[in-house]
Amino acid sequence: MKKILITGALGQIGSELTMRLRKEYGNDNVVASGLSAKEGSEEVVESGHFEIVDITNAQQVADTVKKHNIDTIINLAAILSAVGESKPNLAWDVNMGGLYNVLEVGREFNVAVFTPSSIAAFGPSTPAKNTPQDTIQRPTTMYGVTKVAGELLCDYYYERFGVDTRGVRFPGLISYKTLPGGGTTDYAVEIYYKALQEGKFTCPLGKDTYMDMMYMPDALDAIIDLAEADPAKLKHRNAFNVTAMSFSPEDIFASIKKLIPEFTMGYDVNPILQKIADSWPDSLDDSAAREEWGWNPKYDLDKMTKDMLENLRIKLGK
Ligand code: NAD
Ligand code: SER
Repeated sequence: MKKILITGALGQIGSELTMRLRKEYGNDNVVASGLSAKEGSEEVVESGHFEIVDITNAQQVADTVKKHNIDTIINLAAILSAVGESKPNLAWDVNMGGLYNVLEVGREFNVAVFTPSSIAAFGPSTPAKNTPQDTIQRPTTMYGVTKVAGELLCDYYYERFGVDTRGVRFPGLISYKTLPGGGTTDYAVEIYYKALQEGKFTCPLGKDTYMDMMYMPDALDAIIDLAEADPAKLKHRNAFNVTAMSFSPEDIFASIKKLIPEFTMGYDVNPILQKIADSWPDSLDDSAAREEWGWNPKYDLDKMTKDMLENLRIKLGK
């Protein structure tokens, strides 16, 4: 990667990835883009190039790639699971139509394309425990449908047109800088804010709901390490299972309680979110990523909790 365009750069991942890449590759070599400069972090908009790019507008994507002589697009623009269930048409347009535009630009201008998939690419008929890299994928959400179709489309552009496409299946991502954009795993971020702000949390998922999760620094490493991996070593390309931990609401509650003993939690299960969460794996097998490009996450639940609370205390003045 020499000249990078990030789409959806003001979202949860993009706002941190942009700053990390600017540090490593130089401010001028990382172009952030989004629907509006007012949407998110001033730091991202002001520390380097920022362009308005709606990925459903193919011309905007192509013009930006040409203008900045881009060699890699990291395509983070998307509609996540919970919002996708309330706006399935929008999820289809952005996650499929937008991805198609990005891949076409990749083909036309010989640009590599990195697009994250998700645990949502699996469904209720997938083996839920230690979910294999290659297994049944029959998702039951619009988000999941677009994610599995996106994996296939990226594979197709590599096989058919030689576009250097790569990607991981991210689990729920936890971070303290930018709030998540409307997913089913968002409770695992909100719980830390509520622990510090109110000392109590009402969980929208049932106590035995296990899902894979990951702390943002590990997620950023996954993107950079796979994007820079030796292609000769990659047997898979677009849908590597990656995980750092699998926990239930009771587990994350217990982890926070070790540092905030007075913290309490109750439940008010949201049936829509619960149905989505129940359709996703409990824990992924990420051995292909470990073998093919050295995936090795650094944060477990307690180490993440300590870092989240330390940083949120500063951010929230608590
Ligand atoms: P996010 O919702 O925080 O950010 C997405 C950004 O895309 C937002 O800033 C939004 O304004 C923008 N966007 C929406 N429509 C757009 C369009 N038409 N053109 C350009 N920008 C548009 O999402 P995120 O958490 O940063 O996720 C990035 C990618 O990672 C997505 O593909 C998502 O599916 C995947 N992923 C995220 C998680 C997670 O827990 N955050 C987990 C698995 C996979
Ligand atoms: N965190 C994401 C979501 O819940 C998983 O892709 O939608």
